[in-house]
Amino acid sequence: MAKTIVVTGGNSGLGFECASALSADHNNVVVIACRDTARANQAAQKLRQGGGRVDVLCLDLSSQPSIHAFVDAFRARTLPPLAGIVCNAGGQNVGAPARTAEGFEATFGVNHLGHYLLARLMLPDLAPGGRITFVTSNTHDPRQKTGMPAPRYETAEALAHDLEPGAEPGKRRYTTSKLCNIYTAYELAGHLAASPDPRLQSIRVNAFDPGMMPGTGLAQTYPPVLRFAWHYVLPVLTLFKRNVNTPARSGRRLARLAAGSEANATGKYFSDGHETLSSALSLDRAKALDLWNSSADMTRLPRDLSPASSDHPTKTDGRLNLAVALASP
Ligand SMILES: NC(=O)c1ccc[n+]([C@@H]2O[C@H](COP(=O)([O-])OP(=O)(O)OC[C@H]3O[C@@H](n4cnc5c(N)ncnc54)[C@H](OP(=O)(O)O)[C@@H]3O)[C@@H](O)[C@H]2O)c1
Repeated sequence: MAKTIVVTGGNSGLGFECASALSADHNNVVVIACRDTARANQAAQKLRQGGGRVDVLCLDLSSQPSIHAFVDAFRARTLPPLAGIVCNAGGQNVGAPARTAEGFEATFGVNHLGHYLLARLMLPDLAPGGRITFVTSNTHDPRQKTGMPAPRYETAEALAHDLEPGAEPGKRRYTTSKLCNIYTAYELAGHLAASPDPRLQSIRVNAFDPGMMPGTGLAQTYPPVLRFAWHYVLPVLTLFKRNVNTPARSGRRLARLAAGSEANATGKYFSDGHETLSSALSLDRAKALDLWNSSADMTRLPRDLSPASSDHPTKTDGRLNLAVALASP
């Protein structure tokens, strides 16, 4: 049964490897959603050489109009039912703080807020049983002693305007944005489970930690010596250290969660290849709610899943039967 899966940041690192694993199943149409069309086309070309069915659509998560335009462009394509959205794109900025087009701090804006908006806008497009997977990081959890600063969540409003300079605040904004991914996964899963709409109820939402994956583009704002170590020294750790993975290994795991056998879970955290507990802070419901409500305000969406989200556009275009067939038993 043909189905479509969207992978944000599918041109590079984990996103590319996930897209590669997904496109190995020729029933899947993989839409790689990227801010740089040239890089995206290059990646798509590689995946097509392996026989994958791959489409490219432009998406810049640092711009809300770009996210809306992506959704419009997606709807204008004739694609098989949408079975999954992999919210993977993201970055870590240890250089000068940056802002999104709307003026929000960019690590928060791209890693969290852009994906929040994308996931909510695409709810009407998801087929029954569809999956949304947020890529987070074990660096959100101080117990893991990853060497990264602990996240600091006071309010979403404070995070959206935190432009404190320096490498350490930059890293902290990253770990906090990954905490936001978990809050969003849990909160969205709860909203969907409580929805009166059976299609929304059937959508599964999870958070996925790929572990440390040296060699990806994540370290691009680090000083040259650390970038060298990231690309040429640290990959040796994948041979013996727990939860240090090649992008290919984590990409296969992510693809399984986003579209495969583990996907019946919802509102769960997966790390090192299995479901496990996320940090104590990530279970703080008041903070998750603050993030949910503030993010709705910052993206001009209703705080509740509006009745409009229940209107499944594929109802009218003859693809509903395919969509229904995707629903998990
Ligand atoms: N590498 C690790 O050790 C590690 C560990 C835990 C979690 N993660 C998570 O894994 C995910 C993927 O990271 P990676 O390590 O694979 O790094 P990567 O190779 O740098 O990939 C990041 C992807 O995100 C895209 N991206 C960045 N900003 C964007 C924007 N404004 N709009 C759209 N796309 C944007 C990048 O596009 P460009 O190519 O155009 O820059 C790239 O495709 C991230 O969420 C990261 O937090 C990574």
